[in-house]
Amino acid sequence: MNTTTDPLHVTLLVGSNRHGRFGPVVADWLLDHLRAHADLVPEVVDVAATDLPTTFAPTPEARAALAEISPKLSGADAFVVLTPEYNHSFPAGLKNVIDWHFAEWRAKPVGLVSYGGLAGGLRAAEHLRQVFAELHAVTVRDTVSFHNAGASFDDTGRLLDPSGPDAAAKTMLGQLVWWGRALREAKERRPYDAA
Ligand SMILES: Cc1cc2nc3c(=O)[nH]c(=O)nc-3n(C[C@H](O)[C@H](O)[C@H](O)COP(=O)(O)O)c2cc1C
Repeated sequence: MNTTTDPLHVTLLVGSNRHGRFGPVVADWLLDHLRAHADLVPEVVDVAATDLPTTFAPTPEARAALAEISPKLSGADAFVVLTPEYNHSFPAGLKNVIDWHFAEWRAKPVGLVSYGGLAGGLRAAEHLRQVFAELHAVTVRDTVSFHNAGASFDDTGRLLDPSGPDAAAKTMLGQLVWWGRALREAKERRPYDAA
């Protein structure tokens, strides 16, 4: 592998598992951006497709779920976390998947994309910064947020006015790629041992 030039493996973590969720509409838009980016090779972990108990009991179901999820996290050079806002924070199911892992997040960049009502999920995104700091991950400055997300897309899942979100995604992904490359090269020279 050429750490300087090879595209970055980015895992999109889809944070909503609510019955009847809107999340996949935003996730599809986001995936289009990840797939179109020459520096990124995307992978998806969908919280709705995971079956991890909140007790951290290592049940056969949990082990099977981890066997599916964990390699997609450990193999990533960078993450994009998509979160809705529930009661001014991010969903419990998303926190559960994050908490089941530790080293997988370490010394990697995280881009945040949020959606919700009036505040566009910004409070959920800011809460995630605190969580990822504890995990030795680096959240990038710029985010993408959808205010009144349901009204921003048409019935076919297309954005009514893509200009703002497209520009925000370009900025956020530019920062993610910079950090992803910088950290991958740095870890090749000097393993991250500050944990
Ligand atoms: C339990 C719950 C709490 C919510 N709390 C907020 C909130 O605090 N702020 C906000 O802007 N939207 C809030 N919403 C609206 C959601 O962000 C919005 O419905 C979003 O589409 C939910 O994502 P999902 O459909 O993928 O689950 C809440 C929705 C639910 C279900």
